[in-house]
Amino acid sequence: MSHKTTTNRQRLLNALNCQPNDRPPIWLMRQAGRCLPEYRALKEKFTFRQLIAAPELATEVTLQPVRRFDFDAAILFSDILVVSEALGVPFQFNDIGGLQMKTLKDSGDIARLDPAWVVDRLQYVAEALRLIKQKLGDATGLLGFAGSPWTLANFMLDGGSGVAYVRALELFHSDRKAFDQLSEKLARATADYLKMQIGCGVDAVQIFDSLGGLLASDEFEAASGRWVRDIVTELGGRAPVIFFSKGARNWPAQVLTGANVIGIDHEIDISEVRRQLPETVGMQGNLDPFLLSKGTPAEVQQAARGLLEKMRGRNGHIFNLGHGVPPDAKMENMETLVATVRRFS
Ligand code: CP3
Repeated sequence: MSHKTTTNRQRLLNALNCQPNDRPPIWLMRQAGRCLPEYRALKEKFTFRQLIAAPELATEVTLQPVRRFDFDAAILFSDILVVSEALGVPFQFNDIGGLQMKTLKDSGDIARLDPAWVVDRLQYVAEALRLIKQKLGDATGLLGFAGSPWTLANFMLDGGSGVAYVRALELFHSDRKAFDQLSEKLARATADYLKMQIGCGVDAVQIFDSLGGLLASDEFEAASGRWVRDIVTELGGRAPVIFFSKGARNWPAQVLTGANVIGIDHEIDISEVRRQLPETVGMQGNLDPFLLSKGTPAEVQQAARGLLEKMRGRNGHIFNLGHGVPPDAKMENMETLVATVRRFS
């Protein structure tokens, strides 16, 4: 049985390339961070900003969930907002975790954004990735990530937590020239940033289009999809791309981005998506994240088995949630989930 010697990293690579696997690899969005007691202990001493800015600390937080759960992949501990910050729009979190951002006021502010310095300003991420890769070796996969231009544009125009995201869509409809200029700069900066991450050894990159669901089907291509396609094209196959557009439902338009794997949220039946996606594109996600906080281990096991059965025989399946791990997820539920996927055959 040659599969018996498969490493976690190889299992991830097999799935990213839609090759047969012994079982689907598993990692979870937001697997690092507040759900883990060892992260909360670090947060007694350091702020979130300090944790992502210091390469040794970012490395430690990235590795915490891998140590505890032996996930098939680690994901860089950082935030999508570091790219908008490197473009000149800083962010911070207040004491209760609320996000505060300066926002772009007008097309003049957009014209002043300069992607030229983004990679220089994000060298602390490069340093963290090199450290993480050194520690993981070839045993565990490593994922980099960035936000999509559409999602970053929303944060940069409307700012922090608890706001309604309306200005990006308004700009898209009222001033397409300014919207395109903003999206183009974000795509440029993001492509450069992801190339840097790939140069530091990540096995794949995920593009988070967390606000994709704000778009109507006929708006998706021009407002989000084409800018993601520009990034994928610019990456030129240096590493596989996972595209996760939360709430978006137009699968053909998502496939057009050229991404190797499509992320799927938990508000849809994955069997329906499986029927609509070509076999050459991988599929990731779909388990309801709130099972981890509100469910019992037995319920988690049942739901995970159900999902695995729906995906049986489908190459390119990466097990994940439909969105991030909730901060109040129970450790016993996480353990049960990982064990259920690991035992599947
Ligand atoms: O997945 C991981 O484990 C890697 C780390 C990661 C974080 N943010 C850490 C984080 C990743 C991949 C992200 C991506 C991110 N950041 C997204 C896309 C994914 C998604 O959830 O849809 C978005 C939209 C953001 C922007 C962001 N970051 C907001 C709006 C907030 C505040 C609200 C919140 O959830 O706390 C953050 C903060 C943030 N990013 C935290 C962490 C661990 C919480 C900071 C803390 O510890 O207090």
